[in-house]
Amino acid sequence: MLVSAKEMLDKAREGKYAVGQFNINNLEWTKAILLTAQECNSPVILGVSEGAGKYMTGFKTVAEMVKAMDESLGITVPVALHLDHGSYEGCYKCIKAGFTSIMFDGSHFPIEENIAKTTELVNVAHGLGLSIEAEVGAIGGEEDGVVGKGECADPNECKMIADLGVDFLAAGIGNIHGKYPENWEGLSFETLAAVNEKVGDMPLVLHGGTGIPDDQIKKAISLGVAKINVNTECQLVFQEATRAYIEAGKDLQGKGFDPRKLLAPGFEAIKAKVKEKMELFGSVNKA
Ligand code: 13P
Repeated sequence: MLVSAKEMLDKAREGKYAVGQFNINNLEWTKAILLTAQECNSPVILGVSEGAGKYMTGFKTVAEMVKAMDESLGITVPVALHLDHGSYEGCYKCIKAGFTSIMFDGSHFPIEENIAKTTELVNVAHGLGLSIEAEVGAIGGEEDGVVGKGECADPNECKMIADLGVDFLAAGIGNIHGKYPENWEGLSFETLAAVNEKVGDMPLVLHGGTGIPDDQIKKAISLGVAKINVNTECQLVFQEATRAYIEAGKDLQGKGFDPRKLLAPGFEAIKAKVKEKMELFGSVNKA
């Protein structure tokens, strides 16, 4: 059964570990992540961007597929199906489709409008038992064609948004989506510590998990980060494994062209990557 992400993240925050949000794009990714979570006895969050939702023919298709797969694989660990960087309209579509968690990314609105829309969505989500994430300070890099700058959030704005009743908060601390540039300065732990102090026990979310050094991940967890989003790193290992299979000519041997065989190395690579992250984040055996 799919659950809201609130309880798993409150527990993670208290237990000083983080739950991974892994983004899904198709059936193979979903299956790889669900099976790994079960094998690791770890809670997990499946993230769906608006672009991935469109690719999979809509949020209803995604929700129905994830629910059915969770059931038919006999998954017993807590799984949340979460809209990643949702627009106002996207949030309503996911609520209707049966998602168990949403993120409203109002960081590009003026703060007053962000507050008004977030308040409304908090009430709707909570009325239906869903969890809700909000964002303050744009996360840099490019996601679905939207480029942010990698700001550091204002801790007072974080407190304002946290007080609206959101369940977890993504605060920009110099993190960006995708690969980090050579001259990246690293996470701003001063910002994180200041945000953490302002928002009390609120679980914090670290976007752009790809390429952040392990020691910075661990320090972020010690300062209140309880959810870490990883997408690009899974895409990279999937691509590398698929390329190796093709370059070795395996797609031309026997029935190697069968998509179930062709995608198998990428599938295994995602499983290994997700396991590595669950171990690093400390969520193994926390289901
Ligand atoms: P990466 O693609 O950098 O891992 O970021 C994922 C993310 O933050 C999704 O919201």
